[in-house]
Amino acid sequence: MAISFSYFLIILLIFFFPLHNLAQNNGRVSTSSSVSATYESTPWLSPSGDFAFGFQKAEENKDQFLLCIWYENIEEKTIVWHANMSDLVPQGSILYLDPQRGLILNDPQGNALWRTDIVFGNVDYGFMNDTGNFVVMGSDSSGPLWESFGNPTDTLLPNQILERGSFLVSQKSEANFTQGRFYLRMLDNGNLVLVTQSVPSNMDYDDEYYNSQTFDSTNATNSGDKLVFEENGVMSVLKRNNQRQILTPRSIPSASQNYHRVTLNFEGVLTHYYHSRISDSSGWNVLWSQPNNICIEIDGDKGTGACGYNNVCNLGTNNRPVCNCPQGYSLVDPNDAYGDCKPDFSISCDEVGRGSPEDFYSFITIRDTDWPKSDFQLISPSTEQDCQNACLNDCFCAVAIYRSNSCWKKKLPLSNGRIDTNLNSKAFMKIRKDGVPGLPIPGSHQKNSWRIWAIFASSLLGSSVLVNVLLIGVFCWGFFHIYKKKVNVLRPTSHVTDSFCHSFTYKELVEATDEFKEELGRGAYGIVYKGVMSGGSRSVVAIKKLDRVAHEAEKDFMTEVNVISQTHHKNLVRLIGYCNEGPHRLLVYEYMSNGTLASFIFSDPRPTWSQRTNIAMGIARGLAYLHEECSTQIIHCDIKPQNILLDDYHVARISDFGLSKLLKINQSRTDTNIRGTRGYVAPEWFRTSPVTVKVDVYSFGVLLLEIITCRKCLENDESYGTEAILTYWVLDCFQEGKLETLVQSDIEGLNDKKQLETFVMVGIWCIQEDPSTRPTMRKVCQMLEGSVGVTTPPCPYNFSNTI
Ligand SMILES: *[C@@H]1O[C@H](CO)[C@@H](O)[C@H](O)[C@H]1NC(C)=O
Ligand SMILES: *[C@@H]1O[C@H](CO)[C@@H](O)[C@H](O)[C@H]1NC(C)=O
Ligand SMILES: *[C@@H]1O[C@H](CO)[C@@H](O)[C@H](O)[C@H]1NC(C)=O
Ligand SMILES: *[C@@H]1O[C@H](CO)[C@@H](O)[C@H](O)[C@H]1NC(C)=O
Repeated sequence: MAISFSYFLIILLIFFFPLHNLAQNNGRVSTSSSVSATYESTPWLSPSGDFAFGFQKAEENKDQFLLCIWYENIEEKTIVWHANMSDLVPQGSILYLDPQRGLILNDPQGNALWRTDIVFGNVDYGFMNDTGNFVVMGSDSSGPLWESFGNPTDTLLPNQILERGSFLVSQKSEANFTQGRFYLRMLDNGNLVLVTQSVPSNMDYDDEYYNSQTFDSTNATNSGDKLVFEENGVMSVLKRNNQRQILTPRSIPSASQNYHRVTLNFEGVLTHYYHSRISDSSGWNVLWSQPNNICIEIDGDKGTGACGYNNVCNLGTNNRPVCNCPQGYSLVDPNDAYGDCKPDFSISCDEVGRGSPEDFYSFITIRDTDWPKSDFQLISPSTEQDCQNACLNDCFCAVAIYRSNSCWKKKLPLSNGRIDTNLNSKAFMKIRKDGVPGLPIPGSHQKNSWRIWAIFASSLLGSSVLVNVLLIGVFCWGFFHIYKKKVNVLRPTSHVTDSFCHSFTYKELVEATDEFKEELGRGAYGIVYKGVMSGGSRSVVAIKKLDRVAHEAEKDFMTEVNVISQTHHKNLVRLIGYCNEGPHRLLVYEYMSNGTLASFIFSDPRPTWSQRTNIAMGIARGLAYLHEECSTQIIHCDIKPQNILLDDYHVARISDFGLSKLLKINQSRTDTNIRGTRGYVAPEWFRTSPVTVKVDVYSFGVLLLEIITCRKCLENDESYGTEAILTYWVLDCFQEGKLETLVQSDIEGLNDKKQLETFVMVGIWCIQEDPSTRPTMRKVCQMLEGSVGVTTPPCPYNFSNTI
C-alpha cells in the first residue's frame, strides 16, 4: 500500500513537474521562466485558474499565435488583453521573463518582437493575478514595474482603472487583432469619450460619438479624474472632488458569481458584459452599452460612419451595428463587411450627350435610408418624380433622398449611411441598367471579346469529337456566366399598349399564390409559382417571379410584356397579365396541367409515337410563328424540353419566350450574350457569324431527336459509352441504316418507317453546323407534315473552321 502510494506520487511529480512548476501553481512566475508559442504549451495561470497568460493560436492563420491573457474557465475564447503588435507571431516564438528588462518576446530566430521595456529596477517575479492583471514585480516591492492593466487593449476588467490620458482601442475585426479606428479615451479635461480616428494620420476626429459630460469648464475640481471599474462591477467616472458619475445601471449581477468585462468592440460599441462563473450555458450577456445607436451617433463629416463608404448601417442586437451594401453595390474587400462598398457599375459624365440618361440608368427605391453627409444640392420644394428626374439628368448624382417635399442630390462616395425609421424618407438609388455596359460604348469592346472566344472555339473544332462536345458544354456555361450581365444591349423601345394584358398589383399576386407557397418550377429568370385568381372564374395560373430583370427599367419590362402579350398561338403559353410595382416584376401565365415535356418524354413508359409526333409538330409550328408571324420577331434562344409545357390535352406549348432577346424585323443579329442550355446551343454562338433565328432551329433539331428517341441529348451515365451524345449516335444509326435501334421496341414508330425516317432526317438538317444550311421553321413544319419532301441531309459536322 505504502509502496504503491509513493509510486503514485512519483508518477504525479513526473507528469506535472515539467508542466507546472511550483511558482506557477500560485500565480507566481519566477525570473528566467518562459512559455513558448506552440500548440501544446502550457500558459501561466492565476491562482484560481480563472485567467491564463500565454499564446493562443490564431483562428485563421495556421501556425500563428497571439500573446494574450484570456479567461481559462470559459468555453468561449475570450481575450482580455493582448500584446500590441501589428502582427501575429510565428510558432516557436518564446516569451521570457528577463531579470532586468521584464517580459521579452522573441521569434524562433531570437529577434525581439515585443517587450515590456522596463527601464528601472530589477525584476523579482511575475504574477498572474486572479483579477486578470499580469504584473511584473520589482525587488524593491514598491509596486509593479509593469502591469497589463496599465497597458490595456480593448477591454477593462474589475479593479482596473483608466487614468486621464489613457485609452482603449478596438480591434480591426472580430479575428484581426491589429488596431482598429475606434477609441475610448479618458481625456485630460475629465471627459470620457468615444471617438474615431483618421487613417493614416492617427488623429482623432473631433466629433465624439459618446461623451460622459464630466468636464466642468468653470471649476476643474468638478471634472472627471479617471474611469474606475470597481471590484463589484460598478463602472464610474471618478471626479477630482471624489464624486462618482456612475455609468452602470443600478442593479448589477453579483461579481462573486459572474465575470464582468467592458470591451470596446471592433465595430465601435462599448459594451459591459457579464458571464456566470459557474455555468457556460448562457454565455456572455450585455449589461449596458454606449452609444445607443452608433449608426446615427457617428455623425461627423470628416470620415465615414460606423460602416465604410457607400455602406449602410443598421442597428442589430445589443446596439451593435450591421452593415450592408445597398443594392447595386458590393464590398471592396469581401471579407470586411464593415468596410467600403463600390458600385457594380460606372456612373460617368462622359456619357452626357451620347444618349438619353434613361437608356443608361434606372432607379431603385429604398425606404428610410440616408447618407446625410454626401449632399451637393438641395431642391425644395420638389415632388418624388421631379426628384428622381433631377438625379437622372445629373451625371454627378448617385442617389437622391426625398423627404418632406424636399430632394437632396448626393454624390459618391456616400458616407455615414444609416437606416433610420424616423426619417420617413425615400432614397432613389441610381443603377446602371442591366446589360448597358460602361464606357467604352457598346460594340467595340464586345466584338473583341467575341473574337477571342471565337478563335478559342475554332481551335476546339479541330480536336476529337467527344472532347469537343464536352468542352463546348463547359464553354457554354462559362460564356453564359461571363455574358449574363450583358443581356439586351439598348433594346428597341416601342409604345406600350397593354390592351390584351391585365395589370395586377403585387398584393393581388401575393394573395393568389398564398404568399408564394407552391413552387411549380425554376427557370432561367426566376421561380414559377402556382396561383388561383380570385373572382368569378377562380382560374388556376402560373406566376413567374422575375429575379434577373428586377433592375430593369419599367420601360424595358413593359416593352417585353407588350410583345409577349401580343403573341397568340395555340402552341404558346399565353400571358394573362403582369405586375410591375416597385421592385416587383411578375408575369402571370395560363397554368399547364401536364408539366414539362422533359418529364413526359423521359419517363417510363415512354409516350406513344403519335403523341410524340404531334408534340414535335406543335413545337415546330409555335416556333415558326415566333420567327415569322409576330409583329416583332422573337428568337427563343433556349429551346429545350424543360421549356415546353403540356396542356390538358397534351398539346405542346412553348414557354419562356420573349423575355431575353427581342429582334426587330430586318435586324439579323444582336450583340448579346450566349443564352441557352448545354447540349442545345447552336455552334454559331461561338463564332462571329450572326446569331439568328437559326439558333432555335438547331435547338429544335436536338429536341426533335430527343422526342424521337426519348433520350436526353447528353447522357452522363457511363453505360451509354460511345452513345452518350445523342446526335452522334443518331447520325451513326442513320448512316448505317439502323433506324429501328433509335426507337427500340416502339411498334408504332417501327410501323411507320417512312415517318420515322422523315423525322430523323429533319432533325439532322436542323443540327447542321452551318446555320444557312438549316431549314427555316416554316420549312421544318412542311417537312414534318409531309407536304414537302425531305432530301438526305449532309453530315452536319464537316463545316470548316473559318471564322
Ligand atoms: C505598444 O504600447 C506601447 C506602450 O503603450 C507603445 O509604446 C508602443 O508604441 C505600442 N506598439 C504598437 C505597435 O502599437
Ligand atoms: C492581486 O489583485 C488584488 C486585487 O486587486 C490585490 O489586492 C493584490 O495585491 C494583487 N496581487 C499582486 C501580487 O499584485
Ligand atoms: C489585419 O489587418 C491588417 C490591416 O488591414 C492587415 O495588414 C493584416 O494582414 C491583418 N492580419 C491578419 C492576421 O489578417
Ligand atoms: C469648485 O467646486 C467645489 C465643489 O465641487 C467648491 O467647493 C469650490 O469652492 C469651487 N471652486 C470655485 C473656484 O468655484
